[in-house]
Amino acid sequence: MEGRNQTPIVELILVGFENDPELQPLLFLLFLVIYIVAVAGNLLIIVLVVPDRHLHTPMYYLMANLSAVEICYVSTTLPRLIGSLATGDRTISLQNCFVQFYFYGILCSAEFMLLTAMCYDRYLAICHPLRYPALMNGRVCAPIVAGCWVFSISYTFMLQIIILQSTYCGPKEFNNFFCDFSSNGLLCSKRKFPIVLQWLTYILAIIITVGIFLFTLATYICIIASILRIPSTIGKQKAFSTCSSHLIVVAVYYVSVFTIYVLSQFRPPAILNKIFSFLSTVLIPLLNPFIYCLRNKEVHQSLRKSLLTLVDFRLRHVNSKIKN
Ligand SMILES: *[C@@H]1O[C@H](CO)[C@@H](O)[C@H](O)[C@H]1NC(C)=O
Repeated sequence: MEGRNQTPIVELILVGFENDPELQPLLFLLFLVIYIVAVAGNLLIIVLVVPDRHLHTPMYYLMANLSAVEICYVSTTLPRLIGSLATGDRTISLQNCFVQFYFYGILCSAEFMLLTAMCYDRYLAICHPLRYPALMNGRVCAPIVAGCWVFSISYTFMLQIIILQSTYCGPKEFNNFFCDFSSNGLLCSKRKFPIVLQWLTYILAIIITVGIFLFTLATYICIIASILRIPSTIGKQKAFSTCSSHLIVVAVYYVSVFTIYVLSQFRPPAILNKIFSFLSTVLIPLLNPFIYCLRNKEVHQSLRKSLLTLVDFRLRHVNSKIKN
């Protein structure tokens, strides 16, 4: 590096949750179980939705896509944490840290976009039920999903270019359980780098976040207003149950991301940052399949059908073995 007298940092220490060696095996087990349950739960949703023709509607397509995002999400943060709890080695190379942050950025953005698309889908279904089939169907849904991914990947790529132009100036101890440079650490930019691009990215981020937030808020106000107008209690409950879980997920997600990125400007205690990072990157992917899908009647039916087919298949298999 040109003309710098400090030795550059090439390795970080990810502090994680607890340094007490006695607690390490316990935490290792806990996170391993969380990881397995989160992956299995989300995988179950994909496995149920993809082959079942009854579930081939935009709502379930979006759910399955969200589950795919959640699987990737936990897989960028947790395996490393689990590995470091198993070996006790908490160091990570700066390069790997950047890679982790890159994937985290893509998935965080994709999750936001998909949650917004789901909001829009529910908004059309509840506020414009008659026009719903025309406005939201497989042909409209596929470009929306593709748009979410293309935008997330290209936007995060732009961010990453900016980050790679700057150098990491410490601290060497990174007080989180994964590499989130947006709330920890200091990126300094001694070298000339396109400041215009940087500003563009920030402004874009603010516009998009505020825009998405207002959009979500507006759709939910419409949804709740329409639900209140439904005369029968049963109809109200039914409409509300499809949205309440989504509302919970969105609210938890917004609160945690807000806390991480807005409050981090005021230097809150690190533990707060960790708790909310944990909420949005681990707990939501873990709970999503349960609060979102498995409460759903159509998913239940699909699950029952799949289990029956499976049992049937095994019985036939056993029967044919007995005959031979
Ligand atoms: C994601 O959405 C697309 C477009 O609607 C759909 O074709 C695809 O099956 C979904 N992906 C998953 C994993 O369900």
